[in-house]
Amino acid sequence: QQKKVIFSGMQPTGVITIGNYFGALKNWVKLHNEYNCLFCVVDMHSITTRQDPVKLRKSARELLALYIAAGLDPDENLIYYQSHVPEHAELSWILSCFTYMGELNRMTQFKEKSQKSELNLNAGLYTYPILMAADILLFKTDLVPVGNDQKQHLELARDIASRFNGIYGDTFTVPEPYIAKMGARIASLQEPTKKMSKSDENPNAYISLLDEPSVIRKKIKKAVTDSDALIAYTEEKAGIRNLIDIYCLSKDITTDEALEHFQGKGYGELKEQVADALIAELEPIQKRFKEILSDKAYLDGIILKNAESASRLAERVLRKVKKKVGY
Ligand code: ADP
Ligand code: NA
Repeated sequence: QQKKVIFSGMQPTGVITIGNYFGALKNWVKLHNEYNCLFCVVDMHSITTRQDPVKLRKSARELLALYIAAGLDPDENLIYYQSHVPEHAELSWILSCFTYMGELNRMTQFKEKSQKSELNLNAGLYTYPILMAADILLFKTDLVPVGNDQKQHLELARDIASRFNGIYGDTFTVPEPYIAKMGARIASLQEPTKKMSKSDENPNAYISLLDEPSVIRKKIKKAVTDSDALIAYTEEKAGIRNLIDIYCLSKDITTDEALEHFQGKGYGELKEQVADALIAELEPIQKRFKEILSDKAYLDGIILKNAESASRLAERVLRKVKKKVGY
């Protein structure tokens, strides 16, 4: 029996956070034996907001290196830049002719963005969900790991696929959401009821995967807690709960084990040990990252080989689609 296909990607806009790592990347590493995985650096999505080209190119290369440094094997998974596989853009155009304006108008992410008047409200921002549908449908993807904010976009991809299949006969695989067994959500260190995000204006709110140990220590020390100095895992103690989550994910232990371990201890000690555990988790990744990035020929080789393989794979579906629409 053929392995199911999983597609996922991240935008190369700034260095990813430990939220992206514990919530997505670290879980991806566990998938490649069971599935055929594609992990894309979705740089085409990034230009829906204005980017400095030098920074974008640097972030894209760093993100791809981080994928590998975190344990995604580029021989077992397809790891590539979206912009290197032109089939994404080609399919996106065709799919845009099978998507209704009304559907795009209903996308809550676009509605939220369009309410921020300072934003450059370009057509790419509006048709972004179509490009995402193309990303997924191009590879007969069965499963897509999605967070809550992308659920509606995946639903649209399913609708477009079904619509096309209804008109032309079986062409696309209709993708399903992949719900990870342990869906870790890391909160902001400064406003622990919000999610940690690399686009947060306050750099103390997030820890980037490439932060130096001293910076990690400093940010955790500054993390917002509460005034009752009791280590417990409850809704009201979002800051403490978040620190315990980071500790558990870094150590691969359960919440109960952590609570037992910290019984009777104070916040100062908790923070110190969370920082130690996180630094120990990230150090080998940061070391590998530096090695990978400094070996230009190795990284360029991987980028080229994977883009060619992804393109070959995409071409199979795209050829069928083109024939059906009458090219
Ligand atoms: P960001 O808000 O940092 O820009 P994205 O929206 O680009 O993150 O998300 C990339 C991936 O990381 C998605 O799979 C998303 O679910 C996951 N992710 C992002 N932030 C967090 C977080 N704070 N905790 C857990 N997972 C997260
Ligand atoms: Na695989």
